[in-house]
Amino acid sequence: MFVALEGGDGSGKSGALAHLGAVLGEGALLTREPGGTDEGQAIRGLLLARGGHDWEPQAELLLIAAARAQHVARVIRPALAAGRVVVCDRYVGSTLAYQGAGRGLAVEEIVMIHNHSTGGLWPDLTVVLDVDPAIALARGLARLRAEGSGEDRFEALGLEFQHRVRRSFLDQAAAAPQRHAVIDANRPITAVQADVAAVVLGFLAG
Ligand code: TYD
Repeated sequence: MFVALEGGDGSGKSGALAHLGAVLGEGALLTREPGGTDEGQAIRGLLLARGGHDWEPQAELLLIAAARAQHVARVIRPALAAGRVVVCDRYVGSTLAYQGAGRGLAVEEIVMIHNHSTGGLWPDLTVVLDVDPAIALARGLARLRAEGSGEDRFEALGLEFQHRVRRSFLDQAAAAPQRHAVIDANRPITAVQADVAAVVLGFLAG
């Protein structure tokens, strides 16, 4: 079972993932994109470093696809083959939202490159943490200040971009409701985390 967790920047996704990991226990593999392998982490640095590179949308898409090809072949597929539940922090839904709705690339182009990079691996379930970008941006900026992670590029994209990203996640969910769950992430973080765990456990049981 392959579960992707999606949401705008500052939706509380990382906390929800940690909580979900604790609930699922050892049998589950938690991973993330961009990243997930040493090679993917190197690409993540190219994409997200503060004061980093100014990528064309097509170049950004191909870097993300390269990280994903490595991640799927080396980490995700082997874990699924071993019968583990895999939970990925961001996946193709983010590419459709950020590179598609955000940066203007065509959906068909993204889908084609995704299928090429992954051999057509799509999540069984995508959980979308839906949050008002104004709330999310405030959370995200507060976290950046606290952590000093140096990855501020996407937060710097601004509110209008984040609104397009949100719209895309909701449209993706509406287009395939049997493979998506949308969770209201404007609420206190504990309620959001409890709902994420309940939805995933329900899906695994059903
Ligand atoms: P991440 O660090 O997971 O952000 P967050 O902590 O908010 O979840 O992801 C970094 C950024 O990478 C995020 O702003 C979205 C972006 N991204 C894309 O633009 N396209 C993609 O396909 C993926 C996986 C991420």
